[in-house]
Formats: sequence, C-alpha cells, structure tokens
Amino acid sequence: MKLSNPIRWLSMFVGVTAFASGVLSQNDKDEFALSTPGPVPYPASNPYSKDKANLGKLLFADGRLSRTGVTPCTWCHDPNRGFGDDRTISIGDTKEALNRHSPGLYNVGYLKHLFWDGRAATLEEQAVFPIKHPKEMAMNLDDLPARLIKGGYEMQFNKAFGSKEITVERVAMALATYERTITQNNTPFDHWLKGEKNAMSKDAIAGLELFKGKAKCIDCHAGPHFSKAYTEKGPIYKNTGVYQSPVLDPDPGRMAIEKSNAEVQDAFKIPTLRGVGRNEPFMHNGSIATLEEVVDFYNRGGDKGKLKKLNLTDVEKRQLVEFLRNGITNQDE
Ligand code: HEC
Ligand code: HEC
Repeated sequence: MKLSNPIRWLSMFVGVTAFASGVLSQNDKDEFALSTPGPVPYPASNPYSKDKANLGKLLFADGRLSRTGVTPCTWCHDPNRGFGDDRTISIGDTKEALNRHSPGLYNVGYLKHLFWDGRAATLEEQAVFPIKHPKEMAMNLDDLPARLIKGGYEMQFNKAFGSKEITVERVAMALATYERTITQNNTPFDHWLKGEKNAMSKDAIAGLELFKGKAKCIDCHAGPHFSKAYTEKGPIYKNTGVYQSPVLDPDPGRMAIEKSNAEVQDAFKIPTLRGVGRNEPFMHNGSIATLEEVVDFYNRGGDKGKLKKLNLTDVEKRQLVEFLRNGITNQDE
C-alpha cells in the first residue's frame, strides 16, 4: 500500500473509524454494489471537448497510425465487436501474433490499471504503446506527425487544440478523449435499477440473483463496473485457472510486473462485464469462445481447481448467460 497517497490515507482512516463503529460492511456494500456508474472522469490535463473526441475517433480508425498504413486501432478494437476482436490472440501490423487477446474497451475511461496485467496507468500513456509496439502497429513515432499532416489532419488538430501543430502527445490525448466516451452505462440492468420492471426478462433477473448468490460471481465482479479492479479496495488481479498452453502462451500475468509476489502468479485483471455479450471470445488469451462455455468453466471450478465448483443446474446456467448477454449488454451502443 502506498502510504504517500492522501486518498489511501483517508480511506484507511475512514476504514478504521468505520470498523470501530461496526459499519465497515456498509461502506464495502456501497463500493461493491452493482449500480450505474457516475460520469466518466476526465483528467484536468486533458479535459473533454467534442472536437478532441471527434479527432480521436478518426485517429482510432485510421491505418496511418501503423507502419504499413493498414492496421488501425479498430483492427483489434472493433466497435462492432465490443471494441475487441474475434481472434483468440491478436495479430498485428507485421502479421505476427501477439501473446494476448484484445480486450474490449467498454468503460475503459474509469480504469486505473490498463492491460491484462495493469502495467499502464492512464489512457494517454497507454495509447503510445500499440502505435510503436513492433508487433502491433510498428510505427516510427518520429514519422507520425508528417504522415498525419499529409493525411490532411491539421484543421482537425487546430479545432481540437487551438493550433494546428501535430505531436505524438496530442495524438495520445485525442485518442484517450475518444476512448473515455466508449461506455455501456445504459443497459437493461441500469433501466431495471431505475424501476423499469420490464427492462430485464424474468430469466435475466433470476440470472442476476445467481450472479450475486449461488454462482459467487460477485466475489470478484462487483461494483458499478462488475469488477473489483475498478474499486479502491480491489483485489485487482486473480488467478481463476484459465487454461494456458505451456508451449503457445505461458503467461505469468501480473507476476511479470510484481516479480516477487507469488500471489499474482498467472493472475489477470478482473475485467468489467459491462457489454460482455458483444465481446467473444473471452479471457486474456481468448481461450473461451462463448458465454455458455464461460459459465461451464466457472461451474466446474475453473480448469486448475482454483475455484469451488458451483453445481448449477442447466436452467440456472441458462439464466446466468441471459443476464450477461442481454441484462448487462446494450445492443444499441
Ligand atoms: C494488433 C492488435 C492491436 C492494435 C492494433 C491495438 N491494440 Fe490495444 N490491445 C491489444 C491487446 C492484445 C491488448 C492487451 C495487451 C496486454 O494486456 O498485454 C490491448 C490493450 C489495450 C488497452 C487496455 C484495455 C484494458 O482493458 O486494459 C487499451 C486502452 C488499448 N489497447 C487501446 C488501443 C489503442 C488506442 C490503439 C490504437 C492506437 C490500440 N489499442 C491498438 C491489441 C491491439
Ligand atoms: C476469483 C475471482 C473471480 C470470480 C469468482 C469470477 N470471476 Fe470472472 N473473471 C475473473 C478474472 C481474473 C478474469 C480474467 C481471467 C483471464 O483473463 O485469464 C475473469 C473473466 C471473466 C469473463 C471474461 C470477460 C472478458 O472480457 O474476457 C467473464 C465473462 C466472466 N469472468 C464472468 C464471470 C461469471 C459469470 C462468474 C460467476 C459464475 C465469474 N466470472 C466469477 C475473476 C473472477
């Protein structure tokens, strides 16, 4: 725990006093409640503007950001596929395989631990990784401004930033602003919470009860984003025993970053489940193809016996899938 962080100090203080008065569980309940997220936070150093978001959207879909000119962010983060892709492991500009599956980007603007192992902290910082990564977009950053000038972008940069100067930093700021607009906060579940009783089907409501109860999903997928990785208390990374081929994709997960912490061996970030119905295939290596198979996976306690078996009936499994696919996924966004 970083004690230099005043918010952590404060939360520790609140935690201690709350514990003393016996309401700690109440605080936990609020933070971990399945609820509708508030507005996306924008950093003071890169506030929202419509022109900047529009520019970011154009850049996100523009192959000019890649060496060959044909591999935009959307190649791996396709808006029609929950901003992920249908390949198990991603393939980049050089046609080489990466070692992980492209995550969907819904609600990424709320996330402080980016990548499956949390190695980036802000979207501005993150955006430059794929552009220059030799296996992703393989672009020489020094050449990028000239490319974009040629592509006729100066007017858009002028609108977004007040001058037509094109820099890598501005590219990252525009991409991050656009990414913060990619949300799934208006799902049937959110309408149901507001009291629209018909917003979710009977099966989806039964699925929600299983999610919070017998199926224990809530142990990790809690809070407004259905993931404790978005909360102050965490945990952020867990090893659920997803199968990894020792030959094709041995991946230590978070332990590659926290090298001496055996607790995070093969542990990956708990992903949001908002919009999950559009995000097949699943997990850090895309090794699970459908939501039905995800539920089977948890029902058998994962593949390495890391979790307890759930003993769900076929009807219960179907209800849980219904909640994930149609309860917390908005088909229109
Ligand atoms: C070749 C495929 C590919 C391209 C192109 C690509 N990404 Fe990614 N992206 C990935 C993969 C794979 C990961 C997960 C990597 C990891 O966890 O190590 C990822 C992770 C991310 C994340 C973190 C999401 C999370 O939940 O932690 C963000 C944000 C992101 N990419 C944005 C972008 C942007 C912006 C671009 C374009 C500038 C881009 N990506 C281009 C494959 C790609
Ligand atoms: C012990 C913590 C934990 C529990 C309990 C848990 N999950 Fe997960 N879940 C995770 C982690 C960690 C991942 C990412 C694992 C990986 O990529 O290898 C994940 C991934 C997923 C994914 C894939 C999302 C994506 O975008 O790829 C789905 C869907 C999912 N969980 C649903 C559920 C459901 C449904 C339940 C209850 C039956 C459940 N989870 C219980 C921690 C948990």
